[in-house]
Amino acid sequence: MNQAVILAGGQGKRMKAPIPKPMFRVLGEPMLEWVLGACEQAEIPRICVVTGYEAQQITDYLGDRCETAYQAERLGTGHAVMQTLPFLKQDTDGNTLVLCGDAPFIDKDTIIGALERHIAERNAVTVITARVPQPFGYGRILRTDSGIAGIIEEKDATDAQRQINEINSGCYWFRTGKLIELLSKITNNNKQQEYYLTDTVAIALDEGMRAGAFCSENPDVVLGANDRKGLLALNTAARNAVLNYHMENGVGFTCTDGIIIERSVKIGAGTEILPGTILRGKTVIGENCVIGPNCVIENTEIGDNVRLNTVQAYESRIDAGVKIGPYVHIRPNSHICSGAAIGDFVEIKNSEIGSGTMIAHLAYIGDSDVGRKVNIGCGCVTVNFDGVRKSRCEIGDHAFVGCNTNLIAPVKLGKDCYTAAGSTITTDIPDYALAIDRGTLEIKEGYTLRKFAKKKK
Ligand code: UD1
Ligand code: CA
Repeated sequence: MNQAVILAGGQGKRMKAPIPKPMFRVLGEPMLEWVLGACEQAEIPRICVVTGYEAQQITDYLGDRCETAYQAERLGTGHAVMQTLPFLKQDTDGNTLVLCGDAPFIDKDTIIGALERHIAERNAVTVITARVPQPFGYGRILRTDSGIAGIIEEKDATDAQRQINEINSGCYWFRTGKLIELLSKITNNNKQQEYYLTDTVAIALDEGMRAGAFCSENPDVVLGANDRKGLLALNTAARNAVLNYHMENGVGFTCTDGIIIERSVKIGAGTEILPGTILRGKTVIGENCVIGPNCVIENTEIGDNVRLNTVQAYESRIDAGVKIGPYVHIRPNSHICSGAAIGDFVEIKNSEIGSGTMIAHLAYIGDSDVGRKVNIGCGCVTVNFDGVRKSRCEIGDHAFVGCNTNLIAPVKLGKDCYTAAGSTITTDIPDYALAIDRGTLEIKEGYTLRKFAKKKK
């Protein structure tokens, strides 16, 4: 069987934060997730991640998604792979892909293309390489007329070798059996006194094994981040790639300032995304919507022809033709049905808002089931929390909830009923009724005049 080892033990000192480098995020996902995703897309059935620095963060993130091997000391990439020997020895028949957890743009096509070459050439090891204009810092590929001769690290290279612009991506396919044999022959006899995985190429050739190189058509496969600037560059590259993908699918952008769209988001054709909009997670947006400016939408399903202006929405559903904003907060587990309209300074939480319902301004609707074509007046509050427990409100179809109504949950308004502005409703109201809860209005004529007269005396 084929399998993969992902190296994720390194620290990333220049990031200046106690986070393993592969856990730094590119477009919202840890770099390690990008690498894992590429393996999963390439349908590699067994994966082992090497952890080291702050290992717990990685094992917590992975859960039981794949195996891990712990590298107690960082003694180099070869030493890191040695830690996976128990994993490798479980299945020595196929091939093992070794990947760096801090180079997120490795892709399925490169992985599969390199494997095909690796098998066709019957190599013990096939290095994935790329030609780049600025090879500084990377291992260089040494070639002779007969093919690859080895890999030399920047620090160990001569000036002439540093001119080579074909570099080691840090990804390789090995025959698993040969990898186990090669690992036993690596030494730390170099400037950094590390066990370099790169030495396996020259060792294989010395031992009469075949070694090859697969130059990727996508030079981004090598890109990694050593510091915050590098991480920003990765984010920029990923962000532009996602924007290009959506534009090819008919999504419109007048200006992309402040627009961040994570890889997993789906957007229908004809939809326009306006500046300052962040779309995260498993968000799905329909066709012909206008989203933005300044929206944050996370794990939310949005139908066609929806208009969101300065809205934050999380873990919710917004059906076709809904108009929301500006300045609206849709909190988790809400469902806004088709044609509803929600205006400025409204918060909705864990509620269903029926189709055609209007909540025009300044309201809080929490833990409530609101019917169809209801009108919620300005300043209405569902009082869903009594300090101990949360309860639900139910508002029937076509109800008219007057301004500044408090609905003390649990309470139910029947269909087609009215509440008078300013009422506090503590008991259920039957269908077609009007509920008024107000003190009697008292008017004291001439009150101010008498008060001033008293003062003068
Ligand atoms: C490595 C390669 C270099 C290649 C480059 C591509 C070696 C000796 N050099 O260099 O030829 O061009 O990658 O990015 O392999 N790691 C561990 N344990 C360790 C050391 C590293 O798990 O003891 C992990 C790191 O977390 C990282 C990966 O291995 O994910 C690569 O290590 P890094 O130190 O970044 O290697 P480079 O110097 O970049
Ligand atoms: Ca690196």
